[in-house]
Amino acid sequence: MKILVTGGTGYIGSHTVVELQQQGFEVVIVDNLSNSQAWIVDAIAQITGIKPHFEQFDLADRALTADFFRRHNDLKGVIHFAAYKAVGESVEKPLMYYRNNLVSLMNILESMAANGVPNLVFSSSCTVYGQPDELPVSEKAPIKKAESPYGNTKQISEEIIQDTLHADKRLNAIALRYFNPIGAHDSALIGELPLGVPNNLVPYITQTAIGLRPHLNVFGSDYNTPDGTPIRDYIHVVDLAQAHVVAVKRMIEGRMKASFEVFNLGTGTGNGVLEVINSFERVSGVKLNYKIVGRRAGDVEKVWADPSWSNQELGWKAKRSLDEMTASAWKWEQAYRARAKETNQ
Ligand code: UFG
Repeated sequence: MKILVTGGTGYIGSHTVVELQQQGFEVVIVDNLSNSQAWIVDAIAQITGIKPHFEQFDLADRALTADFFRRHNDLKGVIHFAAYKAVGESVEKPLMYYRNNLVSLMNILESMAANGVPNLVFSSSCTVYGQPDELPVSEKAPIKKAESPYGNTKQISEEIIQDTLHADKRLNAIALRYFNPIGAHDSALIGELPLGVPNNLVPYITQTAIGLRPHLNVFGSDYNTPDGTPIRDYIHVVDLAQAHVVAVKRMIEGRMKASFEVFNLGTGTGNGVLEVINSFERVSGVKLNYKIVGRRAGDVEKVWADPSWSNQELGWKAKRSLDEMTASAWKWEQAYRARAKETNQ
């Protein structure tokens, strides 16, 4: 059974391709390599023994997308990861975010309908909840006004999908709202590979520990939380990837309860920044150089998932601990830098 993974050479995409292949799916990747590299296709093949078919083009190009779907009209589903995802950059370049994230989604939906490809899994985010009034946050929580153009693209995308499904009853979609994916595949052959200076906490920690950054800035310790830092629901990327396989199977096997479903992907546990740092220091044996500085604009104080609906309906549960997440991220950082030195990757 053939599945298209857009953004399949990216961080979450590549881990999902591995899990799909290991569950017997045939995977086709489309990626424009704007935030990833072609050798990741080979790294995937090294893990699974199967090289996925890969096409490099931009899904925001309507004609190229239409042509791709005409050639692959036997697809059973699409998992759509390909999108820009840096919150700060989206504030600086809103139109770039709206154009890329929304136009590519519309092109994909149009081509799915034109070629009878019925099932879409969409990469959404807990950012749609903003700072929730109640914690843990369930799928029933209200959608708050987006705090960034990036967050707004996720909200608008979910609306575009629902309107399209309403007009075309042959289509189904599942939006997966991710909390904070971190960590890497156990093989250390794939992992998170930020371009330039990382925006996110864990790649910043591992790059600091390996000597690429002088120190980590901890953005604020005066929040109303146990350690004074913001609380997030960190989830291992492999647990997250496995949920996508479960979602695809649910659609293909006709087990959806409605044509559009939403699931939170989190562990249900929140951790502060200092807890993540402590975990990293414990598993790596490296003392991390960090400084507490002022708050980062736009950070919500605390958010963690109520994953009970996902656990119950998908029969899926995040299994890996925070220590497994930080240990795998560290193993990946070290392995990647060692390989990059050898091969000039
Ligand atoms: N942090 C630091 N120093 C850093 C980077 C991050 O202290 O150098 C802190 C942040 O202030 C925050 C926590 O680490 O408290 C996590 O920050 P990340 O940037 O790793 O993750 P966010 O929760 O800010 O962002 C994530 C996703 C976004 C999504 C958002 C929704 O990366 O795509 O969750 O809340 F929009």
